[in-house]
Amino acid sequence: MDTAEIRRRFVAHFERNGHTPVPSASLLLDDPNLLFVNAGMVPFKPYFLGQETPPYRRATSVQKCVRTPDIEDVGKTTRHGTFFEMCGNFSFGDYFKEGAIELAWELVTRPVADGGFGFAESLLYPSILDGDDEALALWRKVTGLPDERIIRLGPKENYWSMGVPGPGGPCSEILIDRGPAYGPDGDFSAEDRYLEFWNLVFMQDELSSVRSKEDFDIAGSLPKKNIDTGMGLERVAFMMQGVDNMYEIDVMFPVIERTQELTGRRYGANPEDDVRFRVVADHIRSSMMLIADGVAPGNEARGYVLRRLLRRAVRSVRLLGYEDRALPELLPVSRDKMGETYSDLHRDWDRISSVAFAEEDAFRQTLRAGTAIFDTATAAVKQSGGRQLSGDKAFALHDTYGFPIDLTLEMAAEQGLSVDEDGFRRLMTEQRERAKADAKAKKGAHRDAHAYREVADSIGRAVEFTGYTDVVSEGTVRGLVAAGGVVTAAREGDEVELVLDRTPFYAEGGGQLADQGVIELENGALLQVRDVQSPITGLVVHKALVLSGEVTPGAAAQARVDVERRRSISRSHTATHMVHKAFREALGETATQAGSENAPGRFRFDFSATGSVPASVMVDVEERVNDLVLADLAVHAEVMTQKEAVASGAMALFGEKYGDQVRVVSVGDWARELCGGTHAHRSGQLGVVKLMGESSIGSGVRRVEALVGGDAYRFLAREHVLVAQLSEVLKVRPEQLPERVHDIVERLRTAEKEIEKVRLGQLLAAGGELAAGAADVAGVKVVAHRVDGAGAGDVRTLALDIRGRLPAAAPGVVVVIGQAEGKVSVVAATNDEARARGLSANALVRAAGPLLGGKGGGKDDVAQGGGTDPSGIDAALAAAGAEIARAAGAS
Ligand code: ALA
Repeated sequence: MDTAEIRRRFVAHFERNGHTPVPSASLLLDDPNLLFVNAGMVPFKPYFLGQETPPYRRATSVQKCVRTPDIEDVGKTTRHGTFFEMCGNFSFGDYFKEGAIELAWELVTRPVADGGFGFAESLLYPSILDGDDEALALWRKVTGLPDERIIRLGPKENYWSMGVPGPGGPCSEILIDRGPAYGPDGDFSAEDRYLEFWNLVFMQDELSSVRSKEDFDIAGSLPKKNIDTGMGLERVAFMMQGVDNMYEIDVMFPVIERTQELTGRRYGANPEDDVRFRVVADHIRSSMMLIADGVAPGNEARGYVLRRLLRRAVRSVRLLGYEDRALPELLPVSRDKMGETYSDLHRDWDRISSVAFAEEDAFRQTLRAGTAIFDTATAAVKQSGGRQLSGDKAFALHDTYGFPIDLTLEMAAEQGLSVDEDGFRRLMTEQRERAKADAKAKKGAHRDAHAYREVADSIGRAVEFTGYTDVVSEGTVRGLVAAGGVVTAAREGDEVELVLDRTPFYAEGGGQLADQGVIELENGALLQVRDVQSPITGLVVHKALVLSGEVTPGAAAQARVDVERRRSISRSHTATHMVHKAFREALGETATQAGSENAPGRFRFDFSATGSVPASVMVDVEERVNDLVLADLAVHAEVMTQKEAVASGAMALFGEKYGDQVRVVSVGDWARELCGGTHAHRSGQLGVVKLMGESSIGSGVRRVEALVGGDAYRFLAREHVLVAQLSEVLKVRPEQLPERVHDIVERLRTAEKEIEKVRLGQLLAAGGELAAGAADVAGVKVVAHRVDGAGAGDVRTLALDIRGRLPAAAPGVVVVIGQAEGKVSVVAATNDEARARGLSANALVRAAGPLLGGKGGGKDDVAQGGGTDPSGIDAALAAAGAEIARAAGAS
């Protein structure tokens, strides 16, 4: 049965049983605790926590998930995938343990011919949390299995939480026995033998802290008992497809097959190669899905995970012996399989592939640069007679050039060298400790999360945002947070985070900066709002300074947004939509937004593009946007279903939850986007939009910065004044300025060349005199000269000129040392006769160099060096003289 059919059967089964099918959310849902969506329940968290009312009591989904802590295990076990799909059914205060067990058991055991999965009951083992007698009794009742077939496991396996404060509960898993080939009888820890493929979480607790899987504190019960289950689609697929592991299922194996063709190696021939094949299949798919959802490779957080996946994939293909660009060969194979379910892979292919390919190219360059460093390091080790590359070097290669240690090990082995792996690991550990300390410093955020949750719970519903229509509104103080905890009062001079039940203040989000303003209480207390954030879904927190009076929960309040700032930010936000649309018109649909910041009077807009944006496109986009500003288009927002939004042609941005109602903002009927931000009412209010320039901010992402409204006008006015001043100074009309400046620069260049000629003439004129005055050292003509104000080029010219003037029939040696701008240069030259006497220019520079705080060398006829210590020039000349005397005398 192929993966698509398993997915269909799962959803159909739960739909028949009253569940609403909910499409997968993006991998990038906003959640301060999660890098990526890592379980089917994540998009439903606000429902589980009682922060939002679910529009249904039963739901089912097949959710895209990414988990990367196990990245090192990928390919080594049968079941670790960095990307996987989790089939789930969810009950929000509806059925609980019994319903969940019945529904799962029915689907798993119903014959294939009747729409089930047809697993033999004799191979199945349910597990429970040791002590959960209720679950034990229910499993017996529903399945009729004897006691010994129901496994009791501890909290490590059978208590589920998200690893952070939040919902959790005991769980039951369904295990399937894969037979003695995979491990000993009855050893339920042998995960390959008794494979867990479905986890039913009886979500009933709210956890206040989680220290480990077995060590956590339960703060209390959730408002309602819920069910959250997760069935691993890949795990069920590999069992039903009769293959050994998840990498061999229908949607993944074609990548392994293509890799075999490219590399000429065979999967199944050698365990080490097999792991690499599986890493390729897994990482290619995960990277593609992440890019599809809007991640770009980078050095932090999500971007770093993606970079690591892509690089590991490329590297694994190389280790299998294929050195050309691999992604153009492999990514399309994965797209064709996954695209059957995720059509956006086809739609956004140009963008996805260009991001991935650019990263592979960058990595290939890294490999080249790192290889050069590696070669220098190994040459040095060999030259000094060593046999080991230091841990420092291995670490630097890793840290600076992204060289994986296995690559360094392998390349060193090829050179007959070992690597100080202990030293390398020590440095890695130190770095990790530093990172951990950083993370710990940020952990304070978790403590706060609990305080926020407490406040959110006490309100019992999402804070009402009145700011789309009002900039002033009345509300009630519903909570105060300070220093990470809930407080009951704040006084003059205190910094406090204040929560109202309704507010016109926009919390930073969707690229739009927060509002500022004031909040005044009924008792006259006044707060200055400096920042507004939404730390958990549905909660708005005003970070404010108490200017006067006392603030306590329950007080009535009037919240007043700084209107000028808000209007200015709103204009920027509307301008961003217009610029986005205009870029897509000019560059094609691949120019999708990758990020933005809408601030008062200015905005920043990042989008995908393969190369720099031509200046003509910048001009066209700016003109198009300003034309539509003048056209004074109406800007309006509508709330609709996701489906309607897509049908209306709205550009869906990442991070939206499907199935929800969405807000669509349109500028005329031209630019239409999903957006929760605030906007100008008409495009005419933008006044002027001025693009300031564009640049690259990393693989495949460009950034445009722009000014809007008064700021744009003031910028243009300033430029005008500048041009007027220049025109006055240069005494030409503004349109003649470029030509005039060009003329001046040309004349300056010619004049500089003249000066240079004269200077050189003077320098060389001195050459004749110096040659004539050469000293005689044991029959050798010697000129040792110091010239201040001469750089390396001049010193060399002078030295060679003097040598040319010395009589060719007698041995002649020249040493010139010059200094300019703190740099000292030394050049030595010998003629044929001098070399016949055993004099070497190289030896002279080596004698002089150290006294100049530097080094150098070269051949016997001409050698050159330099340093940074002018105070050593005379001593260096003396040392060179001594070397001449020694060499001349010795012959
Ligand atoms: N949320 C549960 C899990 O991830 C089902 O295992």
